[in-house]
Amino acid sequence: MEKASKIFRDLLQSNEMHSCTFSAPREKTNVIKSIHAKSVSNLNELKVEFRHQKHNDIKTILKSEFITKDLPKLLQAYKQLLIKSDSIEYQVLFNKKLVGKIIEKKSDIAHVSKGNRTKNYLIPDNIPCPFLIEIGVMEPSGKVKPNFYKKFKQINRFLELVDNLYTKHDGSPQHIIDFGCGKSYLTFAIYHYFKNVLKTQVKITGIDIKEEVIDHCNQLASKLNFSHLNFVHGQIHNFQTDQPIDFVITLHACDIATDDAILFSLKNNATQMMFVPCCQHELNQQLHNENSSAMLKHGILKDRLTAIITDSMRAQLLEIADYKVQCMEFIDLEHTAKNILLRCSKRNSQPVMNKEDNINKYLQFKNEWSINPYLEQKMKSLNYFSI
Ligand SMILES: C[S@@+](CC[C@H](N)C(=O)[O-])C[C@H]1O[C@@H](n2cnc3c(N)ncnc32)[C@H](O)[C@@H]1O
Repeated sequence: MEKASKIFRDLLQSNEMHSCTFSAPREKTNVIKSIHAKSVSNLNELKVEFRHQKHNDIKTILKSEFITKDLPKLLQAYKQLLIKSDSIEYQVLFNKKLVGKIIEKKSDIAHVSKGNRTKNYLIPDNIPCPFLIEIGVMEPSGKVKPNFYKKFKQINRFLELVDNLYTKHDGSPQHIIDFGCGKSYLTFAIYHYFKNVLKTQVKITGIDIKEEVIDHCNQLASKLNFSHLNFVHGQIHNFQTDQPIDFVITLHACDIATDDAILFSLKNNATQMMFVPCCQHELNQQLHNENSSAMLKHGILKDRLTAIITDSMRAQLLEIADYKVQCMEFIDLEHTAKNILLRCSKRNSQPVMNKEDNINKYLQFKNEWSINPYLEQKMKSLNYFSI
């Protein structure tokens, strides 16, 4: 069993696993007859189908969670396991003593895998997409320009996460805000996805401090007939609206711009947020910890540590403000080093029970690193918590 488990973990962690199926339940009373899990392109997640006699339940599970929680139980509960990677297929047959016989053969998906991956993108390569052509990411033929491939992958990755959020929760958001939208590749992509692919009405507002970029984006939106997409020139911390906001995003908004986006979301009671932070300077000069001086001595290590401490601080403060927070990898490190995504959902029905406890843990954390973050100061002044 240990060997099968290792093959599974290695393939999953190296993103080589295409799909797997657990079948032949050991107990006849087991109502789940088989379980089929499929990697979602570029995601840290698996789409898992629990196949009952007459219906299937589908869940999205983090790969890391699947490995630690589900895998050990499933290996005990099912007699057969089929693991497919792009190149090899492993069939594992477990006997009564849970010893697995592993049969290895060449995978039948190897020759189509590359093409399939491309087709799996929510906005595919090689199919002309008017907005991507207009913003210069695609050739009129539909081919993504080589210089824009990283951006194209980032856009698709973000769309997958948005899709995942809203297909899970049924329905679509009413009003999305994209702070620090820049040239707005992502903003246009999300609008296109809701309007043209999902055929649902959505309003999106992009905000940025670069006036000429905002003017250009507004012209492009009107050329594309994207009538509920508009762009506003200004600072995030000055932006106000009296319309309800349900979803706030930032992709690589610099330094405390992410914190301003968080503060706006709290004030406006946003139900969902996704932040991929960028350069994190604020805490860099504050960090001090006698016991961890080795990590603070070298610039590069200190920069990375600062980023991790900043995102940990944000996650804790958001939890204190009654959001459920998941920190996950946004996209492979080969595409950008800025690859941590904070996905936050408002806990409407179940506010955090142990708020005091969360506040105490946060205080301990901030004291340990001698930090006094902008986000905390602002949240206190807005009475999200008191110390
Ligand atoms: C690295 S770019 C990212 C642009 C875009 N989100 C993307 O991923 O392609 C960061 C953008 O945030 C904008 N920005 C930074 N701080 C801001 C602030 N306080 N208010 C509004 N925009 C801000 C910058 O002008 C810049 O366009």
